[in-house]
Amino acid sequence: MNDQLLKQVAEAFTTFSPGPAHQVRVFFAPGRVNLIGEHLDYNGGYVFPAALTQGIWLFIRPRTDRIVRFHSLNFDHEVTAHMEHLQYQEDDRYANYPKGVLWVMRQAGATFEGADFLFASNLPSQAGLSSSAALEVVTAFAVNRLSHCEMSIKQLVLLAQQAENQFVGVKCGIMDQFAVGFGKAHHALLLQTADLSYEQIPFKTDHVQLVIANTNFRRELSDSKYNERRSQCEEVLVAVHSIYPDVLHLANVTESMWEEVASHMKDDTLVKRGRHVVTESARVIAAANALRQHDIERFGTLMNESHQSLRDDYEVTGKYLDALASAANEAPGCIGSRMTGAGFGGCTVSLVQTQELASFERFVTQVYQRKVGYQPSFYVSDVGDGVHEVTEEVMDRWPF
Ligand code: GLA
Repeated sequence: MNDQLLKQVAEAFTTFSPGPAHQVRVFFAPGRVNLIGEHLDYNGGYVFPAALTQGIWLFIRPRTDRIVRFHSLNFDHEVTAHMEHLQYQEDDRYANYPKGVLWVMRQAGATFEGADFLFASNLPSQAGLSSSAALEVVTAFAVNRLSHCEMSIKQLVLLAQQAENQFVGVKCGIMDQFAVGFGKAHHALLLQTADLSYEQIPFKTDHVQLVIANTNFRRELSDSKYNERRSQCEEVLVAVHSIYPDVLHLANVTESMWEEVASHMKDDTLVKRGRHVVTESARVIAAANALRQHDIERFGTLMNESHQSLRDDYEVTGKYLDALASAANEAPGCIGSRMTGAGFGGCTVSLVQTQELASFERFVTQVYQRKVGYQPSFYVSDVGDGVHEVTEEVMDRWPF
């Protein structure tokens, strides 16, 4: 956080929650970008996300009256609740995520006496960069520290996912919360979502930059379409079981097994959904190998293929993401580009040669604007660390 932002947040926090500075703790959770492996985390597959350096800061002061107060600088909206009455309320918007986390943590045995929470984010919201997972995980991590629960990061990320599934009502997989919890600077996280084993693979960006481009198209009906894709995958798994009864997850189906399964299926839509899961699973493994071998060109080609599969087979891209990805592909310095996250709007991620960065952005802006009528936004990001406490470094620079 730069000094100007820190000053702004510190001032807002002192107004929101007056009291001695030594009681204040500060935590940070990053957003995430998924490099490849989309819509596989609820199919037991590998995913390959990375944590960003942009994210959400939480300034928190403990209370003892079992009251929780939430304030967000981004929404300028304050919410108060009692620990005994944590309920989802549409009007509470962002505050439903931390409320949901407190609700699941209480069920898991955490005792928490209340706090003032102030969130400040430099992540675009509703852009598919997991600002909700960052809100959840930073809350879980802070509450765990403040209440001395000693839960592991793995337990915390699972509780964060549970909050989103059960309290907010979005049936997301584990990728986002896991990446926010386990991200590591300059590494991409190869996560096997069936058993949560993972490997952090060096992601060097000396000559190549990770460029996130926002369609600036607000995702609509994304939750219902997301849930629809999930149930379609369940139907495909039923078809798989008629030939391979022992397969546990759709992502375990190999390309040759799939040929046989697909030849017996009648529903073209389901065939396309299944084909995406099977081919994308093979692409993630290939991408991880390419990265291990520093073959960034191959990695880029796999990203492009992933986008095509999400466009043609999984049908979660749409006009805006397609316009952005294809503009990127024609732009100078582009090694590969694809949509990232759930889709239906949000962002693309591209690998771009550092020296071509300015011309890349200029070109993509022009082409995208011509096609859809307005401008994209760009975020050039490094790969950062997962959730952590930053009280000391913030207090060293605390402006009061
Ligand atoms: C969203 C969900 C994730 C994952 C992606 C698609 O980000 O929260 O769990 O399913 O979509 O890969």
